Amino acid sequence: MKILAIETSCDETAIAIVEATGDEKRAQFSVLGNALLSQIEVHKEYGGVFPAVAKREHAKNLMPLLRAALEEAELLKEDTQSVPQETHDAVAKLLEREPGLDEAFLEFISENEPADVDAIAVTAGPGLEPALWVGINFAKALALAWDKPLVAVNHMEGHVLSALVTEKDGVLTITDVRLPALALLISGGHTELVLMKEWLTYALVGQTRDDAVGEAYDKVARMMGLPYPGGPEISKLAESLRSVEVGPSQVGGSSASGEVFNLPRPMLHDDTCDFSFSGLKTAVLYLLKNRSELTDDEKAQLAYAFENAVAEVLWKKTARALEQTEAKTLVIGGGVSANTNIRRVFTEKIAEERPDVSLRIPSAALTTDNAIMIALAGFYRALRKEIANPETLTANGNRSLK
Ligand code: KG4
Ligand code: ZN
Repeated sequence: MKILAIETSCDETAIAIVEATGDEKRAQFSVLGNALLSQIEVHKEYGGVFPAVAKREHAKNLMPLLRAALEEAELLKEDTQSVPQETHDAVAKLLEREPGLDEAFLEFISENEPADVDAIAVTAGPGLEPALWVGINFAKALALAWDKPLVAVNHMEGHVLSALVTEKDGVLTITDVRLPALALLISGGHTELVLMKEWLTYALVGQTRDDAVGEAYDKVARMMGLPYPGGPEISKLAESLRSVEVGPSQVGGSSASGEVFNLPRPMLHDDTCDFSFSGLKTAVLYLLKNRSELTDDEKAQLAYAFENAVAEVLWKKTARALEQTEAKTLVIGGGVSANTNIRRVFTEKIAEERPDVSLRIPSAALTTDNAIMIALAGFYRALRKEIANPETLTANGNRSLK
């Protein structure tokens, strides 16, 4: 099955074409085409992602990315054909709120044959609704113009599945996942522990009561005068210190040794698997209020203390959830799982304390938002014949895993 997948939930516009074979027990995926444009440079100016700006950028990027992905997959075939009036009108209506995209799209379908793909998968949520809508309307227009089935994908399922992939000689395989699997999903909009008890069936185990961890990273970075997105910036600072002065990260105790700044570990000792990060962010705010400009060394110290607090809370809550759920597999997914310290702490802690659990962390390319992960989820949903109705499919910013 060839799947063309579209991702526009936040600040990455991405289209991938993936050929999938196999079944739910063992599936293999070859990436035929993969095109992605990050909007980071555009959003940097504003210090965060503005939904209206993201929407405009997605509308601008989708057509060039579609061409690039099809070309890479050798599926772009020129063919001047007249578009039936009915299709023309329906497409124009679907894309009327995305200025420019409608004309470019109509021109494209009148110059090219429908691509040889079996389904169109699209992120339907969670994410920023104005951004999601661009991808959804675009996917609906493609499904209509090419007469292909449409599959709605949960973005978080994409993150879970991309962590379960093993890669060899360019082929991605998902197999032998020991269930139940616990997923720690950490991104700009999410911080949650989700249990996959049976394949592709989810239950919420814990979640943040306020800020997402990526949001805390981004806000603290902003307070420190670092550019958006803050996660990689804070990580760089903290790592610079770890490598020269204080050694590897510490987890344990209320504050790790070698820390100049003491930051709280919110909700560490309560008996839920829920998180809270707003207190940590506020602690940094107060700390900065009472000081003049931080020196470079102090910035690194603060980043280090912040990362230690985050990693400790994430690990302790995850360890609690592993115990409660008796999970055999632990998955980490979402943009924040790119973090060097979090990856290291989880790898060490699993080896030391829970060697019975298999830890699955996505490869770097699959960690941040991309369309390959949407294709993976689209494949399983298509196998289950979960075909979306274009008439009723809507963007849902809070779409949850079920
Ligand atoms: O999953 P993602 O790409 O988009 C959302 O769905 O939110 O996650 C983006 C988040 C941002 O908050 C960004 O600062 C954070 O992931 N992030 C990181 C790192 N790379 C990205 N946080 C910590 N360390 C990193 N290396
Ligand atoms: Zn994401």
